[in-house]
Amino acid sequence: MKQLAEILLSCCVAASLSGCEKAKQDMYDQPKYKPLSRSELFADGNSSRPLPQGSVPYSQGSFAGTSSGRKGTDDVSEDAAAGSAQNNPYPVTMQLLLRGRQRYQIYCMPCHSAVGDGDGLIARRGFPHPPSYHDDRLRQAPDRHFFDVVTNGYGVMYPYADRVDPSDRWAIIAYIRALQLSQHADVSRLPPDVLERLEATKPGGPR
Ligand code: HEC
Repeated sequence: MKQLAEILLSCCVAASLSGCEKAKQDMYDQPKYKPLSRSELFADGNSSRPLPQGSVPYSQGSFAGTSSGRKGTDDVSEDAAAGSAQNNPYPVTMQLLLRGRQRYQIYCMPCHSAVGDGDGLIARRGFPHPPSYHDDRLRQAPDRHFFDVVTNGYGVMYPYADRVDPSDRWAIIAYIRALQLSQHADVSRLPPDVLERLEATKPGGPR
């Protein structure tokens, strides 16, 4: 009987301790100051302290505000140049397209789909459907429109500025242009050997 009581007691202790553990892991209510919140600790009542004279910022550029600020210590001149360009400032090489495809598949495909028609898996599971990149309006939209959408978000789409740096935004845009071309190419501009292969796939065409 005593043994049973001991087992019950240890269960209770374990249950209450696991409760404590849970409370300790409450990440939403941490004992820390949010920027500019009040503090009794300082005479001016502000938890954010004035910068010592002569301080220089550790982080600069488009990533300075992200959680770690680490990326903000990288050379920012390229980011700045890429960020202010109106059209893709990089030559469209296979390397740029491959990088763009990889970044697109990570950051955009879940909603916009592999072909860019807006029927990605997240949209199929209930997120609002994005418009198709193959709509006339987006086919004709300038590069910079795509850049701004990624940087600032658009309607219900969140901004991706903290995850996709400016040069990668242009790589993604080059890839989106390739996707658009893949669905809307002028057949007469195809190289002769590709045209021949295409003709061969037509029903009744040469085998
Ligand atoms: C979580 C889903 C989601 C992801 C991920 C996403 N988008 Fe979107 N995107 C949307 C939705 C939804 C819209 C339509 C927003 C609206 O009209 O309110 C949209 C709209 C757009 C538009 C059209 C804006 C216009 O003029 O109508 C572009 C361009 C675009 N997204 C580019 C991108 C790129 C590039 C990426 C990857 C870096 C990306 N999106 C990632 C959901 C997403």
